[in-house]
Amino acid sequence: MAYTALKHLHISCAFISYLLFLSRGILMLRDSPALKQRWLKVTPHLVDTVLLASAIALTVTINQYPFADAWLTAKLCALLLYIVLGSIALKRGKTRSTRIAAWLAAQAVFAYIVLVAIKHDPTPFAG
Ligand code: HEM
Repeated sequence: MAYTALKHLHISCAFISYLLFLSRGILMLRDSPALKQRWLKVTPHLVDTVLLASAIALTVTINQYPFADAWLTAKLCALLLYIVLGSIALKRGKTRSTRIAAWLAAQAVFAYIVLVAIKHDPTPFAG
C-alpha cells in the first residue's frame, strides 16, 4: 500500500479509536448498560488492530523504529500507558473517581501521542 494511503488509514483508525474511547467513557460516566453491548466491546479491538498494523507498516516504510528513534519509542510507551489507563477507566477501576481520573489521563496521553506523531519529537511541548 502506498505511503499516503497507509498514513490516512493510520490517522483514520486513531481518530475512530479516540471516538470509541470517548463514547465508552461517557456511557461509563452515565452507568449505562449500553456499555456492555457486544459491538462496543469488539469494534475497538478491530480498530486498534488495524491502527497497530498500519503503525508497523509505516515504521517499515519510513525506516524508523521504536528503540532506534526516540519519538517512536515515546509513541510506543505512551500507547502502552494509554491501554493500561483505558482498561482502568472502562473495566478495572474500583471506584467511579478512579475510573474518571483514568479516563481523563488516557485522553491526555492520547493527545501527547498525536503531538509526538506530528512533531516527530518525544518532547513536543519544548519549544
Ligand atoms: C494511539 C496510538 C497512535 C496515534 C493516536 C497515532 C497518531 C498518528 C498521527 C496523527 C500520525 C500522522 C502525523 C503527521 O501529521 O504526519 C501518525 C503517523 C505515524 N505513526 Fe502513529 N499513532 C499511534 C500509534 C503509533 C505507534 C504505536 C507507532 C509505532 C511505534 C506509530 C508510528 C507512526 C509512524 C511511523 C507514522 C508516520 C510518520 C511520518 O511519516 O511522518 N504510531 N500517527
